[in-house]
Order: sequence, then structure tokens, then C-alpha cells
Amino acid sequence: MTTTVVGTTVLIPAERIAQRVQALAGEIARALPAEARAQGLLVIGPLKGSVVFLADLVRALHPHLDHVEMDFLGLSSYGAGTSSSGTVRLDGEPRHPVAGRHVLLVDDIVDSGRTLAFAQAWLRERGVASLRTATLLDKPSRRVVPVPVEHVGFEIEDVFVVGYGTDHAERHRELPYIGVKG
Ligand code: IMP
Ligand code: MG
Repeated sequence: MTTTVVGTTVLIPAERIAQRVQALAGEIARALPAEARAQGLLVIGPLKGSVVFLADLVRALHPHLDHVEMDFLGLSSYGAGTSSSGTVRLDGEPRHPVAGRHVLLVDDIVDSGRTLAFAQAWLRERGVASLRTATLLDKPSRRVVPVPVEHVGFEIEDVFVVGYGTDHAERHRELPYIGVKG
């Protein structure tokens, strides 16, 4: 593994992420209900961790789908530390109605599962037409709440990662790779 200037060790290099994002986009497009292609796909990410992955994923979806929209949810389950507070708070609704829409929920990482379980329940309660979930990273050993995630980029061990949207106390989201502190 390579040590970088900001004191992180590379766990997943940018090139591997880019390849996986391309493959995931094809996988997601093939799995979508036919109606989602006609109506358009609404890609929704919880702020802020989802932003970098979501931005790359929508561009990778472009060759497969000609109608993709983006929206965001304000959700928080973490304070400044590295362990889940156990509660998820909604602090920002999507700008446009989700009822009747085909939705792809996108996040950076599934840990306890609480954030995505909350987001899935919130979207279903508002009557989405279909819902699939994609995450770049999954830490299956940390799961507390079972949550269906149809598209996973990489399964990782129980390590605290930063980069490519994931943060430690708001630092390192801009790193182009997934790193481990230290
Ligand atoms: P969950 O609700 O416990 O599944 O946590 C999901 C959220 O916690 C993710 O969207 C991340 O924002 C954050 N999170 C979980 N694990 C990590 C990590 O290793 N690094 C940075 N953020 C993490
Ligand atoms: Mg998050």
C-alpha cells in the first residue's frame, strides 16, 4: 500500500474505483424496470457523503440511460467521531416530489445500515414507484439493521475509511481514492 501526503494509506486506488463505477452503472441500468427508462431515473443521495460517488455514477449511467435526474436528502447519523450515534435525523427533504418516481438511492458506505434503512423507509412512505440502492462500500461485519442493497462496489473489512466522499470530522472527502487513516 502507498502512503500519501495527507497521512492516509490507499485502500482502493482511484483507477479501481473508476473501473468499478463503470461496471456498476451497467449493472444498475440492466436491472432497472423498463418504465424507469421511459420515465427517467431519479438518483437520490444523502448529503454529504454520497456526493462524489453519485457524481461519478450519474456520468457512468449516461451511456445507458438518456434521462437521469439528481436530488439529495439531508441525513445525519454521525457527529464528529468515528462511531454511529445510533440515530438518524432528517434535516433536508429532496427539492422535488418522489411519489411515483423510479428512484436509485446512492450512498458512500453502509455500516450499521441505519442511514439507508431510514432513507429507504422515508422514500417508500412517500410512494416511490420503484427503489433500488447502490453503495460504493459495504462493511457487512458492522451491520445492525438489515437493509437490502442491490448494488455494492466493494465489500471492506471493519476499518474506518476516508476519501471519495467519506470523511473524518469533515476532512478528506476530496481524496480521489479510498484511504485508511494512519
Ligand atoms: P450507517 O448508518 O451506520 O450505515 O452509516 C452510514 C454512514 O456513516 C455513511 O453514509 C457514512 O457517512 C458514515 N460512515 C460509516 N462508516 C464510515 C467510515 O468508515 N468512514 C467514513 N464515514 C463512515
Ligand atoms: Mg453518509
